[in-house]
Amino acid sequence: MKATVCQTHELSNGDLRRVTVGDTPILLARFEDNFYALGAVCSHSGAPLDQGLMHDGRIVCPWHMASYAVQTGQQCEPPGLDDLTRYPLMVDGANIIVEVPDDASPHHIPAMTTHHPETDGRVFAILGAGIAGQSAAETLRKEGFAGRIVMITADAENPYKRTALSKGYLQGNAVDDLPKLRSESFFAAHGIEVWRDRLVTAVKPYEHSITFADGEVLNYHQLLLASGGRARQLQVPGADLDNVFTLHKAEDAAQILASSQAAQRAVVIGSSFIAMEVAASLSQSGLAVTVVSPEAVPFEKVFGSVIGHRLQVMHEEQGVEFRLGHKATEFAGHQAVEAVMLDNGDRIPTDLVVVGIGIEPATDFIEAMKLHPGDHSVVVDAYLRAAESVFAAGDVARYPDPRSGSEIRIEHWRLAAQHGRIAARNMLGQAIPFKSVPFFWTKQFSMNLHYVGHADTWDEVVIHGDLEAGQFMAFYIEADQILAALANGYTQELIAIAELMRLGDLPSAKVLQQEPVDWVRLLKLPVTA
Ligand SMILES: Cc1cc2nc3c(=O)[nH]c(=O)nc-3n(C[C@H](O)[C@H](O)[C@H](O)COP(=O)(O)OP(=O)(O)OC[C@H]3O[C@@H](n4cnc5c(N)ncnc54)[C@H](O)[C@@H]3O)c2cc1C
Ligand code: FES
Repeated sequence: MKATVCQTHELSNGDLRRVTVGDTPILLARFEDNFYALGAVCSHSGAPLDQGLMHDGRIVCPWHMASYAVQTGQQCEPPGLDDLTRYPLMVDGANIIVEVPDDASPHHIPAMTTHHPETDGRVFAILGAGIAGQSAAETLRKEGFAGRIVMITADAENPYKRTALSKGYLQGNAVDDLPKLRSESFFAAHGIEVWRDRLVTAVKPYEHSITFADGEVLNYHQLLLASGGRARQLQVPGADLDNVFTLHKAEDAAQILASSQAAQRAVVIGSSFIAMEVAASLSQSGLAVTVVSPEAVPFEKVFGSVIGHRLQVMHEEQGVEFRLGHKATEFAGHQAVEAVMLDNGDRIPTDLVVVGIGIEPATDFIEAMKLHPGDHSVVVDAYLRAAESVFAAGDVARYPDPRSGSEIRIEHWRLAAQHGRIAARNMLGQAIPFKSVPFFWTKQFSMNLHYVGHADTWDEVVIHGDLEAGQFMAFYIEADQILAALANGYTQELIAIAELMRLGDLPSAKVLQQEPVDWVRLLKLPVTA
């Protein structure tokens, strides 16, 4: 079907607009005086891309900052895995005409090769089938690698959206429909072997070998360690009682969901973002939820106490109770947990407990390699290389932050995908330093919080907007530099900040002395250097 969708004068350079051809939504973009018609929704979770921002020839998604090249629709940055479809567009006088086929789909799998053993006899092993491993496998095929790819997971499932486990999935919105990253036929078509339910017990880099629990040995030419982490357990009496859970894998979420459906009360141990997502989800499912944490306010370590307090108030308004400044010392019960005992002797009756106190990098099977002395993560260089023929990506990797110079380890979905993509290209010998800007999101009741940059510590938090009303931006500042920004709302502003960080053009924190700052205008100012 072909239709005139708008007039040329209605769009200026840099504009994005949603139009339709028949029933098909189309994203119309004007860039350097040319017009482009693309799929209208993001390939990650379907965000309307006209609400994002276009800059530097890239369209950035408003929800989780995937980006796509405006001229081709190709994805530039994750978490979207697919490219946007580009539709034929004609300009006839002032009319912009777009043609859409009957079977139009807003995105499609990028062009990739498959396994051709006759042209490439190498074996690339990817230990881990999370988003880091998946992104690496796809990148290898996109880059033309025709050797064997073996992606290994201890899990029973093909790679899935782990981030959904503490959100919609835990509220029973998708019980039978665990959101998978790719279909079985995708892996078959692209010659990517996924070895499921295969626990690795040893990685011997000096032998280029991986040993499995059943004794089988796989030899590799290149290895990517993308083994993520394991949920940290709380070492207290009663930790092995029924209905005491951690949440990292799909089966954990399924068990919590099943238990919560027969429960009235839940205690969540921990007050960082996954624990608090669990508190929000269980509360929205109708349970009376109590959060127990030694922190003085939730989210204190990631967001600071002022923002943390605001989020605590929001949770309290929704019925969540807090026992802050306390540690759980025991889970009491006979077969199943019946109560959580606190360090002041208080007893909180409950039907289930979710322990959300972070992860430990999964590296205990790695032999003869430099691990970080603190958390045993895999230490990599700027190219994500850990040792000869060994790379690491995602939650397991501690890498040099190109902005601060310090070694950092980050547990974010998009960053793990970015790592996977760069590590894969470096496995192919491309020598690309990792420079991407970290970003994460969390959903807490009605708030969709987005965070860009990285700040373990800061001197000051400056808040713009209306924190009380829940529409705000917070800036984490050290030595007059903006290290990170957090926002609820302010979508375009946060994208502009992320782009300024990416380009190394973020102004000093002095800019915050005026409020509001027009971040989008700052991004679009011509470079004066
Ligand atoms: C419930 C939950 C919600 C989250 N929500 C968000 C969010 O909203 N936003 C955000 O940015 N981030 C979120 N995160 C963090 C994000 O999901 C992680 O940063 C990301 O999944 C890390 O991906 P990864 O590929 O590095 O590792 P993982 O996803 O942990 O994958 C590790 C893989 O390694 C395999 N493995 C490990 N050890 C072995 C072994 N010995 N043998 C065989 N296989 C092994 C595992 O089976 C798995 O396949 C969330 C995390 C959780 C748990
Ligand atoms: S919906 Fe676009 S990045 Fe998530």
